[in-house]
Amino acid sequence: MSNGDGSAVRSYHDRTKHSPASVRASRHALDWANQPLAFKIYETLEPIALPRELPPIDVPALEVIARVESSTANECVPDLPTLTQLLYYSAGITRRITHPGGEIYYRAAACTGALYHIDLYLVCGDLPALAAGVYHFGPQDRALRRLRPGDHRRTLIEATGDEAATAAAPVILVCASTYWRNAWKYQARAYRHCFWDAGTLLANLLAVAAARTVPARVVAGFVDRAVERLLDLDPGREAAIALVPLGHTRDRPGPAPDAPPLGLQTVPLSAHEVDYPAICAAHLASSLETPEQVRAWHGQTPRPVAPAPTGPLTPLTPLLGATAPRDAIDRVILRRGSTREFGRVPIGLAAFATTLERATRGVPADFLDPPGASLNDLYLIVNAVDGLRAGAYVFHRERAALELLQE
Ligand SMILES: Cc1cc2nc3c(=O)[nH]c(=O)nc-3n(C[C@H](O)[C@H](O)[C@H](O)COP(=O)(O)O)c2cc1C
Repeated sequence: MSNGDGSAVRSYHDRTKHSPASVRASRHALDWANQPLAFKIYETLEPIALPRELPPIDVPALEVIARVESSTANECVPDLPTLTQLLYYSAGITRRITHPGGEIYYRAAACTGALYHIDLYLVCGDLPALAAGVYHFGPQDRALRRLRPGDHRRTLIEATGDEAATAAAPVILVCASTYWRNAWKYQARAYRHCFWDAGTLLANLLAVAAARTVPARVVAGFVDRAVERLLDLDPGREAAIALVPLGHTRDRPGPAPDAPPLGLQTVPLSAHEVDYPAICAAHLASSLETPEQVRAWHGQTPRPVAPAPTGPLTPLTPLLGATAPRDAIDRVILRRGSTREFGRVPIGLAAFATTLERATRGVPADFLDPPGASLNDLYLIVNAVDGLRAGAYVFHRERAALELLQE
């Protein structure tokens, strides 16, 4: 089965999404004694330590969360400190909290259930201070481990149907999920979580790449099995979710070396794992099998024309330039955390407008063409924003305005 009309995945979504009835009927209880490890730890590979001290990134978060296109005028080959910043501010451990049952290692990007099932791999040619190879990033000791020597980028380039940014990248990052680390809590729904949880991580990665002026783009179209074979992922338990070509070079890699199965030993995640067949079925039903299929999958993003507003419009004027907050992206990532306690003061309209404008400029991705295209419409329930009546709104991005739907 392969990526077709989408009906298999729509049916997966319908069967696994929550409803008041499904939440009431669920008998699933968390088996704390069997909670999976939040790390993939290769037992037999030597760690290659990454720099512990990272130079500050003195670029405002509000500037870099909105980059849609990268300049490829110049050669850009990321060095090891830059790669470490990209890995650490996306998937690194940023906080440790001790509680009676143990310790939680919080990461740079939010993840459902704090279960952190997305791992990062690098596939690169020879770089300053890093030999060509396929590497896994271990957040637990902030180290790389080399799975394969040699330059395997050509395998990924072919898997993407010769996608232009991938073909020119000195380094290609791959996000992959080990389902059980999330399915322990979310059961068959974990396949959907792969994309949310890779998404938070990719948002950080793209912002830090923009701050370091490293070209970067999310590539979601690839021959799934080819990528998974290269990373030696276990097809029943793991999947590659997205690639991110990083940097730009005129040099093109030669043919890739052989990549036989590795069967590398990793630390068991828990006493036993529960298989949810719907996850694998959804992955297979949405996989691409040949570079030709990938090329056919690329195309113009559908751009449904938003209905003209009929309700009252509030124009939004974001804070930009000198008036905008200048908090640096690395500080913002380290400061970020989820909370269930909120300040009991309204949000100013300008701050609210800035949030919406910056967050909806677009994402550099192979499935969003032309740059700036979006697949989302934003609906908002507003309780306390100065200058806005409480109510339900829809955001008209092209008009920079909010339409009141219901007070
Ligand atoms: C896609 C997504 C959905 C989430 N949904 C919920 C939720 O329904 N309820 C909740 O309390 N937290 C939710 N969270 C927050 C996570 O529990 C939180 O990110 C995680 O515990 C890590 O903590 P941190 O965000 O402080 O780093 C969600 C996070 C993500 C990324």
